Amino acid sequence: MTANIGIITVSDRASRGEYEDRGGPAIQEYLSEVLSCDWTPVARIVPDEPAQLADVLKEMCDQQNCCLVITTGGTGPARRDITPEATEAVCEKLLPGFGELMREVSLQKVPTAILSRQMAGVRGQSLIVNLPGQPRAICECLDAVFPAIPYCIDLIEGARLTTHEERLKAYRPPGAKT
Ligand code: MTE
Repeated sequence: MTANIGIITVSDRASRGEYEDRGGPAIQEYLSEVLSCDWTPVARIVPDEPAQLADVLKEMCDQQNCCLVITTGGTGPARRDITPEATEAVCEKLLPGFGELMREVSLQKVPTAILSRQMAGVRGQSLIVNLPGQPRAICECLDAVFPAIPYCIDLIEGARLTTHEERLKAYRPPGAKT
């Protein structure tokens, strides 16, 4: 069975076609490089509108059965940045450790990493993870948190994700039941 993975670019300009979406394709490329299991991308570009983003997140979790939904963009302090709020609104549980670790590794690259309010959380059997909009942030952030993602998805009873171990080793605790 294939694992559906949602990829959402949150950007007013990309959604209007004024700007080429580089974030969504970068996430897709990252996943193709790292995952060894069968997976299917479900990609969308949405404007920085809280209700619209919340609806797309809910659709990807509840209708498309995505075990993982990754967003890029809209995590900063600007007036239109609402991705963390929409994520928190649809999640039943928040996982603040994802944002903490991503900011920690990003701070080693750019001082403005503290401006990202990126969050993660669980809705049903789906894990939602926010990434900043900068395409180069995608690999930096995902390399840090991805080792814990397959086990997190095991715990919420989503699809079983496996990785190419020479590229990225997923960590499952010894004796884990799943
Ligand atoms: N994190 C990494 N790894 N690399 C980056 O270049 N850019 C920062 C920050 N986090 C950045 C990063 C900047 S400049 C901003 S404003 C915030 O993410 C929020 O970006 P967003 O609003 O596009 O999500």
